[in-house]
Amino acid sequence: MDDKEFYLDAIRDIVPEQKENQLQTIFYSFLELEHLYDSAIELVKAQLNIFDNEFSMRFQRNPIHNIESRIKTPQSIVGKLQRKGYAVSPESARKHLMDIAGVRVICCYIDDIYALAELLTVGSGFKVLKTKDYIKNPKGNGYRSFHMIVSVPVHMSTGVEYAPVEIQIRTIAMDFWASLEHQLHYKSVGNKDVSSGLTEELKECADSISEIDIRMQDMFKQINEL
Ligand code: GTP
Ligand code: MG
Repeated sequence: MDDKEFYLDAIRDIVPEQKENQLQTIFYSFLELEHLYDSAIELVKAQLNIFDNEFSMRFQRNPIHNIESRIKTPQSIVGKLQRKGYAVSPESARKHLMDIAGVRVICCYIDDIYALAELLTVGSGFKVLKTKDYIKNPKGNGYRSFHMIVSVPVHMSTGVEYAPVEIQIRTIAMDFWASLEHQLHYKSVGNKDVSSGLTEELKECADSISEIDIRMQDMFKQINEL
């Protein structure tokens, strides 16, 4: 099923009395939403690359190892709205979902994460709506990353629109850990017995990784002072 059919089906199921032409209008609004969030992602990536290139010019090194981005699929947007008990509409998605647009920034060192977070806060033209520091306050399972939600002004032909973008900033090691934890999370649904030993081992790995991130950061500083 393509995205259009999926949206139309989801809307039809929830509001069965919608007339076909109203459905088309709602679908078009979802399409506009996707374009807005896509554009916001492009602006965030462009800004991050500007910071990265400036660092490279001034200090001969890149704080960003790589950037990934994704836009939530229609299935996942509709699913999350339903799960949280919100109306299924483009307006509702815009109001309630802060993670339709996501950008993940992978850095080599912990200091780079905070430097980028600071630059995004004071020097980007984006408005920070929320931050969560899971590095200073790791989650119980060992998850570490710095999360921000920023509001990005997107200039359209009809005027400026603001879109929230979720930015996750983490080290290569934290990212390595999070990918495996994510896999375990999905595999362990309905299979709790098998996963509990692994959960514990993953927590231990998160702690080792954190220690190594700190040691690498320290060595990097020492090498730069040589
Ligand atoms: P959501 O409604 O799920 O987005 O939760 P939230 O608003 O509390 O956001 P939070 O900042 O805790 O997490 C947002 C995103 O961070 C998730 O969608 C994941 O991509 C990532 N994340 C958070 N916790 C974990 C975790 O324990 N493991 C992994 N692998 N990723 C996580
Ligand atoms: Mg999320």
